[in-house]
Amino acid sequence: MVFLKGNFIKKDKAFISVMDRGFLFGDGVYEVVPVYNRKLFKPIEHLDRLQQSLNVVSINNPYNEKEWLDIMNKVVYYSDNDDQSIYLQVTRGSDTKRVHTYENLEPNVYVESNELKTRSQKELSKGYSAITMKDIRWDLCNVKSTSLLANVIYSQEAKKVNAEEAILHKDNVITEGSTSNVFLIKNGVLFTHPTGSKILPGITREVVLESAKSVNIIVKEEAYMLDDIYDCDEVWISSSTRGIIPITKIDDKSLNNGLVGELWEGVYENYLENIKLLKS
Ligand code: PDD
Repeated sequence: MVFLKGNFIKKDKAFISVMDRGFLFGDGVYEVVPVYNRKLFKPIEHLDRLQQSLNVVSINNPYNEKEWLDIMNKVVYYSDNDDQSIYLQVTRGSDTKRVHTYENLEPNVYVESNELKTRSQKELSKGYSAITMKDIRWDLCNVKSTSLLANVIYSQEAKKVNAEEAILHKDNVITEGSTSNVFLIKNGVLFTHPTGSKILPGITREVVLESAKSVNIIVKEEAYMLDDIYDCDEVWISSSTRGIIPITKIDDKSLNNGLVGELWEGVYENYLENIKLLKS
């Protein structure tokens, strides 16, 4: 079952107007909320970020917090899976003709659930590869916009070479991944790009930073240079659907002799504790 424009219906019965501005212009915003053991993980943080995205693009939030939680919990309930990722999007609405400007429209809301396939710690411990690519995106990367053409190109380039992620750089500074935040560890210090207009303020990013601090890693939300990336001791990426993933190879160059670093393990175990709270 999915939720579309106020109704819970079967996915194959869910249709929307071709005049939807999300379809025509990518004029909408979205969220992806992980669900463990049928419980939403950090839903309020996701709803707060949704509100921030909506504010920037001047789309009215059609639901209050309680209504959103009810909708998401119902979609969770209708799914067969215990671990899920809830996708929700709000577009500006359906217009009568295709013009860039808009009048007052009723936002279209779509919510669906997908199975969340978590990877075992053993699997993660083998490490993953990434490529680096120039960040050609706009200056509102803090908005979780459904206009994702650049991210689609990056992800496809990574997929072509069997890489887990494309790590992006702008003016020689590492920003984030095509669908994740990036953490770079050198001499026991964790660097990650500060929040602002250049990156999405990831909900998992906050969990990583809290976990890192709790195991006494020094955290610096500062620029990290692309030129220095191959000398990192560890590189991790994080997202709601992937958790915290260790990267051991970048552009065919191995990091830490191709082995997952020990700091990842501590932070990952701390993060698992957060999730286990939902599992118990
Ligand atoms: N993407 N940066 C970008 C560009 C992202 O698309 C994402 C997540 C993140 C991580 O944010 P969070 O920890 O809140 O998931 C960072 C989702 C999963 C997606 O587009 O499917």
